[in-house]
Amino acid sequence: MSHTLPILETSSPVAPLAVGGFERLRDSHNRLITDLRLSITDRCNYRCVYCRTGNDGAQFSELPMADYARLLRIFVSLGIEKVRLTGGEPLLRDGLLDLVREISEMRSDFVSKIDIAVTTNGHKLAGLAQPLKDAGLSRITVSMDAVDSDTFARITRVPGSFERVQAGIRAAQDAGLGPVKVNCVLLRGFNDSQIEAFAEFSRSENVIVRFIEFMPLEEDRTWTPETVVPLSEIVERLNKVRPLVALPANNPSETARRYTFDDGVGEIGIIAPVSQPFCGQCSRIRLTSDGKIRTCLFSQSDHDLVGWMHRGETDEELRQRIRRIIEKKEARHHIGEPSFLKPSRSMVHIGG
Ligand code: GTP
Ligand code: 5AD
Ligand code: SF4
Repeated sequence: MSHTLPILETSSPVAPLAVGGFERLRDSHNRLITDLRLSITDRCNYRCVYCRTGNDGAQFSELPMADYARLLRIFVSLGIEKVRLTGGEPLLRDGLLDLVREISEMRSDFVSKIDIAVTTNGHKLAGLAQPLKDAGLSRITVSMDAVDSDTFARITRVPGSFERVQAGIRAAQDAGLGPVKVNCVLLRGFNDSQIEAFAEFSRSENVIVRFIEFMPLEEDRTWTPETVVPLSEIVERLNKVRPLVALPANNPSETARRYTFDDGVGEIGIIAPVSQPFCGQCSRIRLTSDGKIRTCLFSQSDHDLVGWMHRGETDEELRQRIRRIIEKKEARHHIGEPSFLKPSRSMVHIGG
């Protein structure tokens, strides 16, 4: 990297805008952008009802890992310090371990170590947890939408998936990737009966269970306001298991509200983008598996960063592009408003 300026020492409580050769990414709403979610494939071996249609035959698009690595390096030079690899299902991708190893060696003027996380469906995790840890992975989130085998298979539409995911979670814990986060998208009528059982699961298995309000990002057009199980209802039901105790946020842009129970056993997060939007503190941007920047989950368009790269633009030119794109990041989503338009792509293409 061609950084020439020294890192500034500051005792000011306000972080300096520039602490190196490049300024950090900031949007026009004065939000600092520090997290990049990169989808490395839009293939998936599950067909979760809240995400995908049950049909085969979709077109897939992936880039060579070297392309993601070059773009990541550019983002890291601009102050990205958290990278989450998503999909589709990222564990389906050959070269994942090498990419994690490469990211773990990236440094910038802003951080000496990138926080690297993966969101996976867990199907292939049992065999990959230890290699991922060895490659430098910091954390792992497993999507798991039921704690009983039949309900789970009904959601994923893959028989035997529950047992595979359980083995994956245990392998991740054994590999030292704990505390594992387990994400559960709640869909009324499908898995909302599982809330209490998930609370027990968190307490007995020592995992952080996060309930997510269903967002209109699915391939099938099944979302209606009635399908969303809101935070208030989740809290009310959990309080009947044992009294909940709120925990402080780990950081200001955290998506989840955190809770434990009155005996301190178990941790629950509730991610409530529909009933309690958190856009005001958003620090996230996304890169799709075909190399396009999305400034919001609900963007109506995306920006073909890899196209400019393939046409021979330099890192500096790409940095300028990124700055201009990020500046225009949307203020917030409009779920539930009359003006709401579904985003131009569904979750499996954007990356969770
Ligand atoms: P960490 O706190 O770093 O572990 O990341 P995270 O909370 O972003 O975790 P994760 O990747 O597991 O995201 C959890 C879920 O929150 C996603 O699957 C989405 O459903 C939702 N989510 C994540 N980021 C956003 C966002 O920027 N906007 C909205 N509306 N929802 C999001
Ligand atoms: N609403 C909320 N979360 C979703 N995810 C996928 N589709 C949706 C949706 N429509 C989440 C899954 C998974 C991650 C990849 O994205 O739970 O954890
Ligand atoms: Fe950020 Fe858009 Fe998600 Fe809001 S909906 S938190 S602005 S990505």
